[in-house]
Amino acid sequence: MFTISSISALVLASSCQQVLAQSCSGFNVTTDYSDLTYTSLGSRSYIISKGVSCSAAQNCSVDIGGYVTDGRTLNISNDASTDSIFSTISKVVKLQFNESQTYPVALNHGPWTIKNGTDGYVAFTPNTLCATGRLSGCQGNNLEGQVVTACTLEGEKYGDGLSGVINEVVTDRESAENVTCNPSNTTQARNGNYTGSRGCAGTQDETGAASTVGGVSLALLSVSLLVAFVGF
Ligand SMILES: *[C@@H]1O[C@H](CO)[C@@H](O)[C@H](O)[C@H]1NC(C)=O
Ligand SMILES: *[C@@H]1O[C@H](CO)[C@@H](O)[C@H](O)[C@H]1NC(C)=O
Ligand SMILES: *[C@@H]1O[C@H](CO)[C@@H](O)[C@H](O)[C@H]1NC(C)=O
Ligand SMILES: *[C@@H]1O[C@H](CO)[C@@H](O)[C@H](O)[C@H]1NC(C)=O
Ligand SMILES: *[C@@H]1O[C@H](CO)[C@@H](O)[C@H](O)[C@H]1NC(C)=O
Ligand SMILES: *[C@@H]1O[C@H](CO)[C@@H](O)[C@H](O)[C@H]1NC(C)=O
Ligand SMILES: *[C@@H]1O[C@H](CO)[C@@H](O)[C@H](O)[C@H]1NC(C)=O
Ligand SMILES: *[C@@H]1O[C@H](CO)[C@@H](O)[C@H](O)[C@H]1NC(C)=O
Repeated sequence: MFTISSISALVLASSCQQVLAQSCSGFNVTTDYSDLTYTSLGSRSYIISKGVSCSAAQNCSVDIGGYVTDGRTLNISNDASTDSIFSTISKVVKLQFNESQTYPVALNHGPWTIKNGTDGYVAFTPNTLCATGRLSGCQGNNLEGQVVTACTLEGEKYGDGLSGVINEVVTDRESAENVTCNPSNTTQARNGNYTGSRGCAGTQDETGAASTVGGVSLALLSVSLLVAFVGF
């Protein structure tokens, strides 16, 4: 325990030195909006339903919502300097650049309708607040004069979880069927490790543990799907 904390203190100290060495003291907004900041859609989208392959005969309905993990972004690759740059920008534009956190999404939405004859799933993209400007007063590195964009999440709103845009993503049948669970509605996603459709493996185990009747009807279903597929 003691060793670990001394090591992390060392790591912290050395990364602090790096941060100091790479810091920039100035940030001048280069956008000409009336405000220093602007709203934008986040750079990452999350699947918040299972995939649906909806037959031509009737509209389908799917439950949406779960948990996603997201936070601030800055479009430079120099990781060592991001902390101090966020803090410089934060002082100028009065935004809080929180690190990644896990948020609930689409808490109060009813089921989402997928139109008959459509394959797809439902996705969520967070709303962000951003500032774009030129760095100045940088110490001993190549950041001087660079234009950067820093964004932070708009946050939770209206008791519905994280603020953002919900939309349907239309795919082909195989892609829809590959999303075998809602990857935002897993224990993993709730614990901060949303892994997209790859995260569905765990939930499939739950299905396997279900009653034999379920297993049998599932097998019958795959056979009928196969027949339908061969029939085409
Ligand atoms: C940024 O703006 C400040 C005043 O707000 C000014 O003094 C400074 O020269 C500007 N820096 C750059 C690099 O334009
Ligand atoms: C959806 O259903 C309507 C009404 O039954 C039908 O006219 C339409 O062709 C269907 N759409 C697709 C893509 O199958
Ligand atoms: C699906 O919903 C749309 C819009 O509500 C409706 O126009 C259409 O007839 C429905 N399709 C079927 C097959 O019920
Ligand atoms: C989330 O998972 C629970 C438990 O498996 C299920 O009852 C619920 O319908 C799911 N909700 C969504 C939005 O996928
Ligand atoms: C960051 O994004 C802004 C706005 O798109 C762009 O003007 C700037 O060149 C980008 N900076 C870097 C270092 O990629
Ligand atoms: C950022 O952190 C502050 C302080 O902890 C908190 O009040 C705020 O809600 C957070 N914002 C987001 C988007 O999580
Ligand atoms: C669907 O999943 C299978 C098996 O993991 C994979 O081989 C295939 O490329 C996937 N198809 C699509 C369209 O994502
Ligand atoms: C997140 O999930 C992936 C896939 O299940 C796993 O390989 C990885 O170790 C997990 N990461 C964390 C931090 O739990």
